Amino acid sequence: MEKVFGLLGHPVGHSMSPLIHNNAFLKLGIEARYHAFDVKPEFVKEAIDGIRALNISGCNVTVPHKIAVMDFLDEINDEALQIGAVNTIVNKDGKLIGYNTDGRGYVKSLLDETEEDIREKSVLIIGAGGGARGVVTALLRHGVGNIEFTNRTIEKTIPLVKLAKEFHVPSATIEKEVAEENLINYDVIINTTSVGMSPNIHHSPLSLKLLKTDTIVSDLIYNPLETKLLQEAKERGGKTVNGIGMFVNQAALSFEHWTGVKPDITQMKKNVLQQLGGTTC
Ligand code: ATR
Repeated sequence: MEKVFGLLGHPVGHSMSPLIHNNAFLKLGIEARYHAFDVKPEFVKEAIDGIRALNISGCNVTVPHKIAVMDFLDEINDEALQIGAVNTIVNKDGKLIGYNTDGRGYVKSLLDETEEDIREKSVLIIGAGGGARGVVTALLRHGVGNIEFTNRTIEKTIPLVKLAKEFHVPSATIEKEVAEENLINYDVIINTTSVGMSPNIHHSPLSLKLLKTDTIVSDLIYNPLETKLLQEAKERGGKTVNGIGMFVNQAALSFEHWTGVKPDITQMKKNVLQQLGGTTC
């Protein structure tokens, strides 16, 4: 019988998850369908009950439900607990288990695209929301040299500094202007905020005037493919990594949790680029 997978979010109209997962099911000959469900915040519990009642095999969870769903699952794996959010649900014989593949998806894309060893590197994180928490947890689990945090609301970086301490990784909070003056200190700069996302494509979260040429600058945003931050980094000789890799790698890791099979990440990337109207290389 055809298995059913889905996405719980609000809104979900522009999500590219159905496209990439349905394509992967088709390519791999897996009898399954993936559907985006627009779930209003007041119906999160009912949506999870629905997974059980309809025997849906698995789901992704996106904004704004990644934290809310946690209350209604049977088990949450360690990494998702540490991040404090779930983006993947697996229905294992009626037991709903929560995972989070966002951070690991990001770190995999960073390593694949830069072919750099980041274990000794100095990292600057811009932002302190849910996206930052996933990325920082995965970076700390992987290993980094040291990590600094800057955010519009500076107090929100405190839990991230605390998390780094748990991993015995040196860390600090830094004002944006101070970071901008000291860009020479960083090997990797990662934007986890929504600043620069379409339609606000002329905004950038950080001035890169003092960027050193071999710094990796990365943005979780993939629409536009090249944010103002990445454009500036390129102009100054930095290496850039956009958000597509994270998107497809988190999807691929979810797919693997559900099916036990690794999908073709290059194909997933092509699907997303085609949908965005970019190149297909
Ligand atoms: P997500 O789950 O996508 O990370 P979030 O938890 O709402 O979303 O976090 C959004 C991040 O982008 C935060 O770091 C936020 O800064 P604040 O903590 O000060 O709110 C940051 N952000 C959003 N809009 C911003 C803006 N216009 N300028 C600077 N930072 C912004």
